[in-house]
Amino acid sequence: MSEPVRIVEVGPRDGLQNEKTSLGVDARIAFIEALSGAGLTTIEVGAFVSPKAIPQMQGSAEVLRGVQRLAGEFHVLVPNEKGYDAARAAGAKVVAVFASASEGFSRANINCSVADSIERFKPVIARATADGVKVRGYVSCVLGCPYDGTVDPQAVVDVVTTLWDLGCAEVSLGDTIGVGTPNKVRELLRACAEAVPMQSLAMHFHDTYGQALANLYAGLEEGARAIDSAAGGLGGCPYAPGATGNVATEDVVYMLEGLGVKTGVDLDRLVAASNAVGALIGRPPPSRVVAAFNAKRAR
Ligand code: HMG
Ligand code: MG
Repeated sequence: MSEPVRIVEVGPRDGLQNEKTSLGVDARIAFIEALSGAGLTTIEVGAFVSPKAIPQMQGSAEVLRGVQRLAGEFHVLVPNEKGYDAARAAGAKVVAVFASASEGFSRANINCSVADSIERFKPVIARATADGVKVRGYVSCVLGCPYDGTVDPQAVVDVVTTLWDLGCAEVSLGDTIGVGTPNKVRELLRACAEAVPMQSLAMHFHDTYGQALANLYAGLEEGARAIDSAAGGLGGCPYAPGATGNVATEDVVYMLEGLGVKTGVDLDRLVAASNAVGALIGRPPPSRVVAAFNAKRAR
C-alpha cells in the first residue's frame, strides 16, 4: 500500500463548475496558486466547453495562461475539436475528453450518444497525439446513472478500452453520482484491468452517499494508484441531479498519509485554500478534515 499514489486535483474545474456563485478568472488563478503552494502537482484548471452549458468555466483560457508559469501539470476538459483549438491556443499540454458509460448521461451532458461522442473524440485525440499533447479520458456513470439507473460493467469496460485504444494515457472512472460501494468498485477495477493496465486507471469518486473514501481504499487494495479529488470536497455536475461533490483532497491526503503513503501535500495550506474558496462561494467546504482542522483551530 505504500507505493506512490498520484492525486489529480479537480477542484478548480469539477469543484467550481456547479456552484451558484461563479468565480472570476483572478479568483480561480489564486485558488490554483494556493493548491500548487500546498504541494499539489497535477491540477485540472478549467474546461473549454459551451459557456451556455457551463457558464462557471468561462475564462478558462485566461486561467490556463495565468497558471502556466507554476510548476506542475495542468489539465483542461475539451468536448470536441472547437474546445481543443481553444485549449491549444491557450497553451494546453494535457487535455481530457469525457465520455459516459450510459446513454442517458451522455445525451444530457454532451448532447450526443456514447458512440457519437467517441467519433467527436477521435480527431481530438489524433491531433493531440500529433501535437505531443497528453490526453486523459473520463468515463462517467461507471457505477450508476441518474437517468438510466444500473450500468452494466461491460459497458464501462467497452468505453474504457475504446479510449485507451484511441491513445488516452489514462482513463478516469467517474462515479458521477456517488452510488458505488467497495465491492462494486473492486469488481469494476478487476474487469477494466483485464482490458487495460491497472496503472492507467484513475478513480474519480463523488461522495453523495459517503462511500468515496471506502471505495478508494478498496481500489487501492486492488492496485489502482491514481485518485481524482477536489479541495474541500467541492464539486458536482449540473447534469447529475442530486449528486454532491468529489471526495475531498484533504480527506484523501489524511487517509493516504495514515496508510504510510507520502503525498507531499501540506494539509494546513490546503485547508486554508479550501476555506478561502468556501468564503468566496458562500458555503463551508463539505470536507470532514477541513471541518476538523477548523474546529481544532477554533478551540
Ligand atoms: P451541442 O449543442 O451539441 O454542440 O453541445 P454544437 O456543436 O451544436 O454547438 C452549440 C453551441 O455551442 C454553438 O454556439 C457552438 O459554437 C458552441 P452557438 O452557435 O449556439 O452560439 N460550442 C462551444 N463553445 C465553446 N467551447 C466548445 C464548444 N462546442 C460547441 N468546445 C457540447 C455540445 C459538448 C459543446 C455541450 O453540450 C457542452 O459544452 N457540454 C458541457 C458539458 C460539461 O462541461 N459538463 C461537465 C463536465 S463533465 C463532468 O463533470 C463529469 C466528470 O467530472 C467525471 C464524472 O464525475 O463522472 C468529468
Ligand atoms: Mg466529476
